[in-house]
Amino acid sequence: MKVGQIIQKNIKANQIIDYDAQFVLLAKKNITMQFQLSEEHLMIRQAARDFAQNECLPGVIERDETQTFPREQIKKLADLGFMGMMVKPEYGGSGLDTISYVLAMEEISKIDASVSVCMSVNNSLVCYGIQEYGSEEQKHKYLTPLAQGKKDNELYIGAFLLSEPEAGSDATSQRTTAEDKGDYYLLNGTKNWITNGNSASVYLVIAQTDATKGSHGINAFIVEKNWPGVAVGVKENKLGIRGSDTHTILFNDVKVPKENRIGKDGFGFKFAMKTLAGGRIGIASQALGIASGAYELALAYSKQRKAFGTEIMNHQIIQFKLADMATRIEASRLLCLKSAWEKDQHLDYGTSSSMAKVFSSETAMWTATEAVQIHGGYGFVKEYHVERLMRDAKITQIYEGTSEVQRIVISRSILK
Ligand code: CAA
Repeated sequence: MKVGQIIQKNIKANQIIDYDAQFVLLAKKNITMQFQLSEEHLMIRQAARDFAQNECLPGVIERDETQTFPREQIKKLADLGFMGMMVKPEYGGSGLDTISYVLAMEEISKIDASVSVCMSVNNSLVCYGIQEYGSEEQKHKYLTPLAQGKKDNELYIGAFLLSEPEAGSDATSQRTTAEDKGDYYLLNGTKNWITNGNSASVYLVIAQTDATKGSHGINAFIVEKNWPGVAVGVKENKLGIRGSDTHTILFNDVKVPKENRIGKDGFGFKFAMKTLAGGRIGIASQALGIASGAYELALAYSKQRKAFGTEIMNHQIIQFKLADMATRIEASRLLCLKSAWEKDQHLDYGTSSSMAKVFSSETAMWTATEAVQIHGGYGFVKEYHVERLMRDAKITQIYEGTSEVQRIVISRSILK
């Protein structure tokens, strides 16, 4: 029996996970704490590091400035198997674990967070959502090309459509409706701030089917972008992750076949929450990468820049900033890897992914701001990269659940 099943048997459904009980059970199974990565993990991390240096770094400043979607980079990432990392090989994926995903996300995000958000949404929201909760037919039709990132040699990726003009953190207040018409649902409404909005071929759409049932009246649907009634609206002009493709998406009497609903009737809100728990590991790892990218630049700069007759690394004020950066980054990395490991072990990871996200995103914002400070005037100009990392860091405190939402999730789990 898998350890996840043992824990499920021993801890009542819906009960917030008791970490002590969880570790007692792991100990009984002789599953111990280990910190080393496998050879395979190291190879994946190196492949992602090389890809970021060779394919993402060239042109990253221009793509940010011109808000150019990194299409070529995403296609190449797909060729390497990074767009469906955790999808089973029978559905065209790489069959890797979540730890590999965290390692790859960190490396890509050090260089280009616009590439890594596209990768994260496709991997942990779209592919995971369909693999875990989709029907066999949905998996064959949609998951296989999504995991490969390509169909008929064209880019084929997904987007996750939960947020609305009046439903951001308060995700149950969905205004988008999906009216049950017998053979199909009729979809109407507007979704906001959609990552991959224009470049995606497939949308996972959360919509209200019965407002009287609250969160139990919400469903999730697979909608194709080229169906009649689907329109891509305005592209957002953003502070950060400017290369990523963020749009409003509009639905006007879109006929969605019944077989494109995910799970049983009313499962949509739980689907969104469960899927987002894994998505938050991805964004936490993105934040970790932004933080470590900014730290590495600040460290290198402090070794070469001289002030008051010596390299600035010799000034204690700089040393202490670097020490705090390194410490917070290490704590973020451990939180990300622990949550990933819990997911791989089929343990409860809802709380740990929120902890990883809130801590890593705040670390990213703080570290990138301090990296700009260490660079002084050079930090304020584009060619030194740290100002972009600082702008990119901000969104990690907002999307896939704001820092405030993560604190709601964490506090509910400890106060229940
Ligand atoms: N797993 C399973 N079920 C869950 C769950 C979870 N993690 N979280 C909640 N639920 C269930 C609850 O148990 C409850 O079910 P019952 O009625 O059967 O008991 C139901 O869902 C409603 O839950 P709550 O009462 O807790 O709901 P709430 O209204 O208080 O909201 C919230 C909770 C945590 C604030 C939630 O609304 C939330 O996470 N909001 C943030 C949304 C978000 O992350 N948006 C990001 C957009 S996607 C994005 O950014 C993608 C991108 O492009 C980058």
